Amino acid sequence: MRYRTFGKAGYSISEIGYGAWGIGAKMWQGARDEDSIAALRRAIELGLNFIDTALAYGDGHSEQIVGRVVRDTPSKVFVSTKIPPKNFLWPARPGIGIEEVFPYDYIIQSTEQSLRNLGLEAVDLQQLHVWNAEWFGSEEWRRGLEDLKTSGKAKAVGISINDYQPDSALEIVKSGLIDSVQVIYNIFDQSPAENLFPACREHNVGVLARVPLDEGGLTGTITPDTVFPPGDWRNAYFKDDRKQQVADRVAALRKDLEGVPGTLPEIALRFCLSDPAVTSVIPGMRRISTVESSCSVSDLGPLPAEVLASLKKHEWRRNFYPE
Ligand SMILES: NC(=O)c1ccc[n+]([C@@H]2O[C@H](COP(=O)([O-])OP(=O)(O)OC[C@H]3O[C@@H](n4cnc5c(N)ncnc54)[C@H](OP(=O)(O)O)[C@@H]3O)[C@@H](O)[C@H]2O)c1
Repeated sequence: MRYRTFGKAGYSISEIGYGAWGIGAKMWQGARDEDSIAALRRAIELGLNFIDTALAYGDGHSEQIVGRVVRDTPSKVFVSTKIPPKNFLWPARPGIGIEEVFPYDYIIQSTEQSLRNLGLEAVDLQQLHVWNAEWFGSEEWRRGLEDLKTSGKAKAVGISINDYQPDSALEIVKSGLIDSVQVIYNIFDQSPAENLFPACREHNVGVLARVPLDEGGLTGTITPDTVFPPGDWRNAYFKDDRKQQVADRVAALRKDLEGVPGTLPEIALRFCLSDPAVTSVIPGMRRISTVESSCSVSDLGPLPAEVLASLKKHEWRRNFYPE
């Protein structure tokens, strides 16, 4: 496992981080806690030292599992979590003021709840789980995040950017007021590389590449016959003819990747790490086999330039997220 410096926060974090949404076992159905714990432990054994969870993942369940594993681990594992929008609306909607979404007291109380779930005295990173550029001038988030740092409850602070709106974070990145951003970045959505990544490099802001496997689209396992468990949110993400669309895109991708070593998901993770602005890529993982596959990618280094050039034409800008 290789490590990169996490922006101004200065932590040395593993290139592969642990996306802990699925182990919350609510929106993603099917995770069993004993498997999730074994997968987290295996990841740490393999050198992973960064976990991304959120209060909203299973209403605190993901945080509880992460806390259990991290408290038991002798080596340092950096834990990042998120404050859900108070109105529980993902993504942030234009025209809704920050006082409805991240009022000052709520920022503090939500962090305290996360610390109770985690059983920790501080998180290494606290993030706003949505972001709306209209809030930039507001005092609520500035004071909230600053006070989290001065009180020691959060050692670093950042935002998770709305789906497919990387440029909405440019102003806050340039302000120097945050340590990191979390953004969708994968072979299908390469847009953060245009403006956001150069700004993050210039202002020394850490980048967490989320949804690197397109919620499963880039695992190469989705076919028109794929069935998700009842209650699993992917029934909406891959609804109607979308599974067919994904399968067609993946078939074209595989053709261009012939001869590149590794499975499609491994190449997809390597793609993310090929941009030096990315500090860590955080695939969602619920089992040991995916952990071992994902963690194997870091040592391979960036993809060759000609492969990256051929991946450019596989960009596919669309929004499958349910509103
Ligand atoms: N708004 C936000 O802030 C936001 C939104 C979405 C996600 N996130 C963060 O980003 C993380 C990643 O996104 P995600 O979990 O939604 O989706 P993802 O990482 O794009 O896809 C997760 C899927 O990929 C599979 N997978 C992972 N590594 C694999 C490998 N090496 N080979 C084959 N399959 C592999 C997983 O399998 P198994 O589960 O079966 O192991 C899971 O089905 C989340 O867990 C969360 O921490 C944040």
